[in-house]
Amino acid sequence: VPDESVRDDRFRLDAETADRLAAEFGTPLYVISEGHFRSRIRRYRAAFEAEWPGGQVAYASKANSTLAVLAIAASEGCQIDVASEGELRAAQAAGVEPARCHFHGNNKTAEELRYALSQGIGMVVADNESELHLLHSLGIAATKLVLRLAPGVDPKTDAKISTGQADTKFGFGSGGAVAAVELCRSLGLPLIGFHCHVGSQLIDPEAQRGGAEYLARFAIEVRDRTGFTATYLNFGGGLGVRYTGIDAPLTFEEYNRIAVGAAREALAGSGLDPVLGQEPGRSLIAESAVTLYRVGVVKPVPQRTYVSVDGGLSDNPRPAMYGARYDVRALRDEAPPARFTVSGKHCETDLLFLDVELPADIRPGDLLQVLTTGAYNATMASNYNRYPRPATALLREDGSAVRVQRRETWDEMLAREELPEDLL
Ligand code: LLP
Repeated sequence: VPDESVRDDRFRLDAETADRLAAEFGTPLYVISEGHFRSRIRRYRAAFEAEWPGGQVAYASKANSTLAVLAIAASEGCQIDVASEGELRAAQAAGVEPARCHFHGNNKTAEELRYALSQGIGMVVADNESELHLLHSLGIAATKLVLRLAPGVDPKTDAKISTGQADTKFGFGSGGAVAAVELCRSLGLPLIGFHCHVGSQLIDPEAQRGGAEYLARFAIEVRDRTGFTATYLNFGGGLGVRYTGIDAPLTFEEYNRIAVGAAREALAGSGLDPVLGQEPGRSLIAESAVTLYRVGVVKPVPQRTYVSVDGGLSDNPRPAMYGARYDVRALRDEAPPARFTVSGKHCETDLLFLDVELPADIRPGDLLQVLTTGAYNATMASNYNRYPRPATALLREDGSAVRVQRRETWDEMLAREELPEDLL
């Protein structure tokens, strides 16, 4: 019996569809499967609901804020987590009511907060004491306020995406959190509960389990010490995904059993019965998309053979930033496999995917698909070397494909320039 936890059901393109999309929209191309994404959201929500009736899922839009993605997440019943005014504006442009959005950030400016409040943001997740004073001066009465806590748990993930440990710029540490609750009450701020997010791409759920338990215990402690009753607790996102065959992330069901179970246990008998929230990004969208590249130069050197594709660092900085690994698949497999290094076009080493198995006769013009690129690729893309950022195609459930974001144009590439005339 195949173990559900190791089943690989990542979205991937068949050769015929890949050819068609590459011809129609060009490469590099992000391709998102609508059906795959919808079913991931449904499964996540159902798994949460099964463990905690009324549990609310906010989609963390930093993972992928293409408007079509935001609109689909909202249509599946997600709230939207935004971490900047830009992400809020994207959600609005996708037709999402600001009332359904949570506003995050460790250094929100008065302008950002003023904008979010004027639009009727649903919830502000406050990070620090000065933000509480700022919110008070701006008049936050009409929305809901949640305090972000730093639970001091240290997850096993890349240090750059770990946020819950004690030494962190995020949230109120154990010293300041009770005082922050008291400050909220003395300022008359509309505090409803607490939040934490401990890290990302977590294969071992220990940190989130610890975070959920910490939130629950803190809510009880605060109630006992101050009389404040939390009605909302959100333990963030962070569930890992399958980038390569060696990643074996938990299923949504297992994960929810563990993380929500920790909160339930800690709350049992306390008299507190909060709404629970989660904020997954990567685990909802990453496996629902691929990047399609076309092979250009194939160059053997004594140590290896480089296969250069028509994108790279600018459309996927994760290998360079985090040493991230991906599965790369050719779209034909006539020849027996051999090992290659896939590199990008950029003027630096730009090694994308090391030690990849491709057909031995891989040649210019072939298409490659890179799996699991739905999260933190498009949103982290850049114009390095003045490459236009790629288009995104959405594969609809009826098999048709629509472009949901076009490739950047050369005019856009230069649109922000303000060259003094005497320099021309
Ligand atoms: N909530 C908060 C407050 C967060 O900071 C994050 C991610 C999430 C939710 C969603 O976490 P997820 O479920 O996607 O793990 N650029 C990095 C990832 C940074 C994640 C930052 N925060 C990467 O490419 O791996």
